[in-house]
Amino acid sequence: MNVYDSDKMKDIFISHNVQPTEDYLNADFVVLNTCHIREKATEKTYSNLGRINKKGKKNQKIIVAGCVAQAEGELIQKRAPYVDLVIGPQSIQSLDHFLERNDLSKNSVTEFDAIEKFDTLNQIKRNQNSKSAFVTIQEGCDKFCHFCVVPYTRGSEYSRTVYEIEDEVKSLVDLGVVEFTLLGQNVNAFHGNDASGQSHSLASLINAVSEINGVERITYSTSHPVNMTDDLIQLHGTNHKLMPFLHLPVQSGSNKILKLMNRKHSRDFYFDIIEKVRKAKPDIALSSDFIIGFPGETQKDFEDTLDLIRRIKYMNSYSFKYSPRPGTPAANKEEINKDILDERLAIIQELLDEQQMEYNRNFITKTVKVLIDGAGKLNGQIKGKSEFNQSVALEGEENYIGQIIPVQIKDVKMHSLIGVRA
Ligand code: 5AD
Ligand code: SF4
Repeated sequence: MNVYDSDKMKDIFISHNVQPTEDYLNADFVVLNTCHIREKATEKTYSNLGRINKKGKKNQKIIVAGCVAQAEGELIQKRAPYVDLVIGPQSIQSLDHFLERNDLSKNSVTEFDAIEKFDTLNQIKRNQNSKSAFVTIQEGCDKFCHFCVVPYTRGSEYSRTVYEIEDEVKSLVDLGVVEFTLLGQNVNAFHGNDASGQSHSLASLINAVSEINGVERITYSTSHPVNMTDDLIQLHGTNHKLMPFLHLPVQSGSNKILKLMNRKHSRDFYFDIIEKVRKAKPDIALSSDFIIGFPGETQKDFEDTLDLIRRIKYMNSYSFKYSPRPGTPAANKEEINKDILDERLAIIQELLDEQQMEYNRNFITKTVKVLIDGAGKLNGQIKGKSEFNQSVALEGEENYIGQIIPVQIKDVKMHSLIGVRA
């Protein structure tokens, strides 16, 4: 979602004749679009700010955006007083006003104003080079998992209207985009209205988007198990533009920990959802997020998580050490011993890597459809993404870029497949 918001900020800058550059030390403006999800990400903000302040050109304006801006606006101004503007993720539209006045004025804007944000940020000005794009359809979260800052940094759930989303998708199709990832912190809690004020589910929105001429592929992220409604599950079997890939974080395989996390679902509930999803789309690729070492996690709880992973079999997953976040209900709970945490993380990552390799190995000799999105790492190589969200590299001409082509898989690496054009 930060990538999406960064693109929106690019559009605002371009409308003021300020062009994007990678050479941030010599830029007139530097925007740090930050993440607050774990302590490590937050600390990166301050180390990056220190470096930019020391090495950046004279009179450079520094803007801090994103969730650290939202959560720690005052602290940023204390720890990095040279920062010119702090803007929260639902206030990025205010950048327009500051650039208009040509004065950032040491301001801090952290209103939760999702309606204003999406009403004003609807013109694409940047170069759209990629054939894939993110479209935020929903923002914020009302779930309040006890480890998570999102409900505090992105605010309460807000769904965009169906027609606003359709307009954005159509504009991106006009710029050559064929693959769309519909985004939201709780994307399957989507309940946006149509022009007559009637509310639509995510399944209904996906059907509407898939009818837009030029849209070839649709995925959505990130979902919560309790919002996996039957219409959405069934859609995986019936809508052929919906890719056979689902990221459905479970966080833990222990009922005790799921309860302490305030996840609002049990492990059996999760198994049931996966069973239904696999019934609707037997070859669907599944991925998840796991938090290791949430306060109170015993060896038995950890083993329950390993057991869940072994039973589900994921194609790819993310696992994180629990990071206490200020202001969340779990923040002051007693933490797990650091060595145990490191050991558990290594064990879970090894299991997830094994599953990923095994999943990918099953593709050898099979043919997948790959959306080619650029040159590969090696000379003469191109690369892209399969319908199962795997990275695929093959030898081929760059004129395939932007096309969906059949590729037969010959070899697998941990994070990618190698093939030839079929
Ligand atoms: N510590 C560790 N991981 C976290 N996540 C969210 N909050 C925390 C935290 N405090 C992880 C969850 C979520 C992913 C985006 O980040 O697994 O699904
Ligand atoms: Fe955070 Fe997701 Fe839980 Fe919402 S549902 S509080 S975004 S982990």
